[in-house]
Amino acid sequence: MHLRTDALRQLRRWLPMLVLLAAACSPDRYPQTALRPISDFARIGDDIQTQTFYWALGVFVLVEGALLYAIFRFRGKPDDPEPHQIHGNTTIEIIWTVIPALILAAIAVPTVRGIFQTAAIPTGDALKIEVVGHQWWWEFRYPDLGITTANEVHIPVGQTVSLRMGTADVVHSFWPPRFAGKRDVFPNRETRLWFKAEQAGEYPGQCAEFCGIQHGRMAFRVRAQTPDDFQSWVAHMQTLTGKPAAAAPPADSVHTATAGAVVPAAPAQGKQDAAQRAAGKDSSTAGAAPDPAYAAGEKLFQAKGCVGCHSLNAVNAPKGMIGPNLANVGARTFIGAGSFRNNDETLARWIQNPQAMKKGVLMPNLGVTPEEAKSLVAFLRAHQ
Ligand code: CUA
Repeated sequence: MHLRTDALRQLRRWLPMLVLLAAACSPDRYPQTALRPISDFARIGDDIQTQTFYWALGVFVLVEGALLYAIFRFRGKPDDPEPHQIHGNTTIEIIWTVIPALILAAIAVPTVRGIFQTAAIPTGDALKIEVVGHQWWWEFRYPDLGITTANEVHIPVGQTVSLRMGTADVVHSFWPPRFAGKRDVFPNRETRLWFKAEQAGEYPGQCAEFCGIQHGRMAFRVRAQTPDDFQSWVAHMQTLTGKPAAAAPPADSVHTATAGAVVPAAPAQGKQDAAQRAAGKDSSTAGAAPDPAYAAGEKLFQAKGCVGCHSLNAVNAPKGMIGPNLANVGARTFIGAGSFRNNDETLARWIQNPQAMKKGVLMPNLGVTPEEAKSLVAFLRAHQ
């Protein structure tokens, strides 16, 4: 009785702590987990590790159980005689050699099968994406769609994506944990990866091979979209040439479609759309019509040399860019390769002093004043 109340008191004392601990284990706090697969590829790996875990659990329970049983059942007493000494037991040795061999064989079968499955190159209507690792960001090209973007790879749910990967400099490793295992990427050598997303949403990915001082800030986002959403994203990206619709000239100088240009429904429509979308993302650019900050930003983008490294063109953008493609930078959730939330404040800080936020990046401090940064942010924000 006394024991039980004591135990209860202990439980009451530790319960809040236990609840807190359990809450800390919530998978939502660890989005970068490989233990909650949402693709066929990730399931292969997860199945193997789950099977292996259960085999290991079985071995642990049996071995520890036998050990505990032996400890209590055959515990020696002070005046016991010396136990009978044995040296070798062929039967037992055969048993404890054969059982582990069988367990390893049982694990090897799905493992070898998984290796071949995950190393295969998908056929059929797989979406081709080229992945290029850079110190320290990721370039994503869609060769069949003529699109280039950076750090946020959009994929359709339910369609296999076939990734051809390489790097522009050192060895990196592409790892989207919810979708697939790590795959090293090399200069001058192509590696492949494929997976089919099962669930829409935005998920983190990470470079998984040390590649310099900002290896830790070489993350990316996987934006899995429903096929319809993905198609609209593609269609939208394909309209993003050098200048967004926002920078479209006034109505009197609209080009005709036959002249190879897209005719906007209204000159400022793109900008308004962009501003509306941006409104949900801490943007201060919401508003109508010509924005002087935008125009000033556009000039600065040229004058400060940003164009030397960054492309604003999503369609057939130049390969081998020095800095990330910024065609849809205003719509991205992060900047600095998954490192900082993309809002006007971080973007302005980045433009003024990238070296303070991510020391060692190729982008130098360009001596941009806070006023100029504001204009550049307004300009970039319109690029949705
Ligand atoms: Cu790239 Cu680590």
